[in-house]
Order: sequence, then structure tokens, then C-alpha cells
Amino acid sequence: MTITTDSPLEERLIALLRHLGLERAHFAACMPRDWVGLLSAHKNAVASLTLMCPMGIELAPLSANPPPVLIVTGDQGRGGVEAIRDGKKIAAAELVILENYFSPPWADVIQDRLDSIGDAMGRFIEQNGFGEAKHVTDGASQSGQCAGITYACRGSGEPLLLMPLALSPSQWQPLIEQLSQKFCVITLGGAHLGMVAHLETRAQSSYMRVIDQLLDELQLQPGQSLLEVGCGPGAIVRRLAARTRGANPIVGADVNSYLMAEAKALAKRDGLDGLIDFQPGDATALPFEDNRFDCTISCTVMEEGDADRMLGEFVRVTKPGGKVGSVTRAIDLPRWVNLPLSAPLKAKVDSAALFGGNVTAQGCADASLYQRMNQAGLLDVVTLPSWASHQDGERLEYLRERIIAQLTPAELAEWQGAYERGKADGTFFVSEPFHCAVGRK
Ligand SMILES: C[S@@+](CC[C@H](N)C(=O)[O-])C[C@H]1O[C@@H](n2cnc3c(N)ncnc32)[C@H](O)[C@@H]1O
Repeated sequence: MTITTDSPLEERLIALLRHLGLERAHFAACMPRDWVGLLSAHKNAVASLTLMCPMGIELAPLSANPPPVLIVTGDQGRGGVEAIRDGKKIAAAELVILENYFSPPWADVIQDRLDSIGDAMGRFIEQNGFGEAKHVTDGASQSGQCAGITYACRGSGEPLLLMPLALSPSQWQPLIEQLSQKFCVITLGGAHLGMVAHLETRAQSSYMRVIDQLLDELQLQPGQSLLEVGCGPGAIVRRLAARTRGANPIVGADVNSYLMAEAKALAKRDGLDGLIDFQPGDATALPFEDNRFDCTISCTVMEEGDADRMLGEFVRVTKPGGKVGSVTRAIDLPRWVNLPLSAPLKAKVDSAALFGGNVTAQGCADASLYQRMNQAGLLDVVTLPSWASHQDGERLEYLRERIIAQLTPAELAEWQGAYERGKADGTFFVSEPFHCAVGRK
């Protein structure tokens, strides 16, 4: 099997299985993009599928003779409600509901509910064993990279491939010791999987126009330093580093060590290592002295924690006269879905509520950003709400899937006709709104 830069993820996963001497394995994932293609094209390779706090469930590949499925989800928030609703539609699915648990993509679910998840997964995989084992005798020789996917194997038993857990800070780490007592646990990573792939895809879309607007407003001069807090896999700091080529000291900070490791690998891939200093750091207690940076920015981070504390920290580490800028999602504004639909369906698919939720109680994903920036003491706050429009690519597909997952069968039939026409004549696009502001300290 030849893997090229265009090879889809499922072919990469099959190449990895073969590389490891495997025909089948148990899989555990969170994001549909990681498992849908594999299950659609290579169902026999999937002995069982565990969906951990799924960020959406695609029902089609699970409708005809699917493998056994275990769905673990919190019962709070949009993701939990949707996972429970969709899980009940899958005949082969066992549902484990974590009571009183909010499981947005950044939930540290394994760390938070270790015992119940460990027990449920261990039992489920044992019950659905297929009688093939893999033995890892030399831990050091069992990690590497194949087809652009990094892997690390531990333990002996039926192979269990763990795909990344969205933005979870601890990922699967707290559970690996326990699972590796019974199974050969193979942890996967790299730019083609999980939230890294998701955010890299977003960074190839017109989301970057929203970001460019923010960067332009900073008017960064040669020699001035910039901190991006919550840089994730680092698409924004890489973009800036590629433009400034060392003329500006650039620091990327994030609380998630898995994403930081991936960010370093991606910077190296792009020949930018040495131009970006990646540092672990919590936005609510940044490990930097007062007045250190000329500019401090965050992009879709203030949704995930205490927004005012974060802003306070951004202001603290910025020099007097320096700039603080932030982009957040805008769950208080409707989308624009460009299809000729009946008025009720158009209102539903455009509705802010369809994409709402996934914001912590003290987070910010609305126009309160502007007031918060004023209250944080920033001056001359420039307000730049703007839209990212998607006419093609993976981001459009992601948004389309999220919309159709929430339609009734009658709405879906109407949608499908309009969608086919809009796709054929090139007029289908989805625009999503963001709030953005830049102020001076
Ligand atoms: C949606 S991603 C955005 C990544 C990047 N800024 C971009 O726009 O592509 C949110 C990022 O914020 C990080 N994050 C969330 N809470 C944080 C905190 N308290 N301190 C630092 N980083 C945080 C997450 O780990 C994640 O990498």
C-alpha cells in the first residue's frame, strides 16, 4: 500500500495496522473524522469501537451491521445531550452516561472519571474479544511513526488503538497503565488525527482571514514580541513566524502538553523550529513576568475557562502601550447557510442555537468580549466582528455534518434537494461568525 500526501486517514490507519502486523483491532476515538472513513471502507478492521465523549456521532456508518459500540458521555451540555440522543438510535451501542458531567471537547474526562471509564472499557473490550493478541516485549522498540501517524505500544493482549481525545489535557494517559494490564494499548497521534487535524483544517479555511484581521490590527513592528495564549497545534504562530522569519520573538503557550508536542513537530515540519518558543502555560496564571510582551493574543480560547481571569493575565504580561487582541466564537449570532430553503428550515439551520453550547460557565463566546476588554482596562478597543465563509473543503463538510445531524427526516429531505442544487451550481456555502477585538494597555 503506497501512502501519498493525499491519502485519506483510513488508508493511513490500515497501513499502520499492517506495519504492526495486525488485521483487526479495537478502536477508541472521540471525533467522527477519526473513525468514520475507517468504518465505512474497512469495517472488518474494527473489532469494536469506543466513542469517548464523542464530538458528534455519524449514524450512517453505524446503521448496517456495525461492530459493537460503546458510547461514554457526560449528561450535561450540548455534546452530552446529542451523544445520548444519537447513541439510543444505534442498535449495537452500549451507553455509559457519566452523571452530572459536562463533557465539552476540552473535558479532561479520563482524569475526571477514571474508575468508571476504566471498568466500562475493560469489560466492553473483553466481552467483544476476537481472539488475536499482540505482545510488546520491548517497549522502546514499539513506538514510531507510520503513514504520518505516530504510535506508542504498551502491554500485551488484544490490540486497542486509542485515537486522540479532542482537547483533553491528559488525553488517555491516566488510563494507559490499567488498560495495558489486559490489552496491547497503542496510543496514536500526529497531524492527521483528532483535534490537531481539526484545527489545522480550520487554519486552512477562511478562519485565517478572521485571524489576519486581528494580526493586522496589532501593527506588529520589527523586534516587537508576541505571545499567543492557547496556541494549540500552532497554526497561528507558524503563520506569523513564516512571515516574520525571526524579526519578532514569538511565544506560543498552551495548557495542553499533547497539543504542545504536536505544535513543536509541526513547526519542525515547516522548517520553523527555532522561530517559535513553545512554553507550557495556563491562561489564568501565565508563567511570564509583568509587562513582558508587546502583543498578547488568544484565538478561540476564552470559551474554555474563566474569560475575565484570562484577560486579566493577558493585560498583566503585556507592556504598557502594547496590544491585547482576542478572537472568540460567536454563539450569540446566527450562521448564514446559503441554500434556498423554506423559511422555517432556513431559520433552523442558521440559528445560533444549532451551534450553541460548548462554553464554560465563565467562558466568553459572545459580544460580552467587548465589554470585558473595556473592563480589563484596555484603551481604544477596536471591535472587529467578522465571518469565515466556507465554500469547499473539510471545514464546510464538518459544518454540513453538524447541521444535518440535527434535522428531522422531513427537514433532511428538503435539505438534501436544496443542497444537491446548491452544490451543483456552486452557490452552497456556510458562513460562521466570530467576535474579535484589539485594545491597548
Ligand atoms: C480551539 S483551540 C484554538 C487553538 C488556536 N488558538 C487556533 O485558533 O487554532 C483552544 C486552545 O486553547 C487551549 N486552552 C484552553 N484553556 C487554556 C488555558 N487555561 N490556558 C492555556 N491554553 C488553554 C487549548 O488547549 C487549545 O489548544
